[in-house]
Amino acid sequence: MIKKSPKDLVPMFFNDTSNSYDKIVNYTTFGKDSFWKHKILEQLSAEKTVLDLACGTGILTKQIAEKLPHAEIMGVDVTKNYLEKAKEKLISFQKVSFVNQDAEKLDLGKKFDCITASYLPKYCISDVLVKNCINHLNDGGKMVLHDFTYPKNKLVQKLWDFYFKVLYLIGFFIPNWKQVFLDLPNLIKTTNWVEDYKETMKNYGLKIHTQDLTWGSSTIIVGTKIV
Ligand SMILES: C[S@@+](CC[C@H](N)C(=O)[O-])C[C@H]1O[C@@H](n2cnc3c(N)ncnc32)[C@H](O)[C@@H]1O
Repeated sequence: MIKKSPKDLVPMFFNDTSNSYDKIVNYTTFGKDSFWKHKILEQLSAEKTVLDLACGTGILTKQIAEKLPHAEIMGVDVTKNYLEKAKEKLISFQKVSFVNQDAEKLDLGKKFDCITASYLPKYCISDVLVKNCINHLNDGGKMVLHDFTYPKNKLVQKLWDFYFKVLYLIGFFIPNWKQVFLDLPNLIKTTNWVEDYKETMKNYGLKIHTQDLTWGSSTIIVGTKIV
């Protein structure tokens, strides 16, 4: 069997799941997705331009637009179905635009005060994504990366493993999500995204700060482009 790379999983996970994504991410994280997005939003204060990479259905994009009503916000995603949902959700937000692009080939011709990315880092090569973000960041701007992590505590690991076994069984009743519930735990357990991105961001001269959330089941890394 050919081993799937994280990037290969993107179309498998996202081509047929946009209609139910908002409900699934809320229920399967027991509402923690909202808490994690709240922690991302805490990093924003008075930015005038924000890029939300891998914006998906626009959950975070909308929250950014509500927090910073005067900011120009752009959402980018590689999956067209997800982007369509985001466009529907933010139709009344005049200062929000969307672009269908691969974050690893990012070329927007403009720079931003902040770049957010929730649930993207594990699918990308850190060196490529960080370099692209730096090229799209104003001096003094920051990138806020968030994704799942495998908890370090042994007891929490047991609960986490058990929970994904349950999700796998639930997947038999939600066919579009079966592949996600099957492959996602292995991806989270094998990715080294936190260490990879920390090292890459340091190498590119960013000042970094890390926040572990909810018993180590997700992490935020903030990197600031020092002037
Ligand atoms: C789990 S969804 C997260 C959506 C949104 N950030 C959120 O937090 O609700 C992951 C998204 O990442 C997008 N994605 C994955 N790899 C990407 C890439 N290389 N460039 C742009 N989008 C990507 C997928 O298309 C999908 O919409």
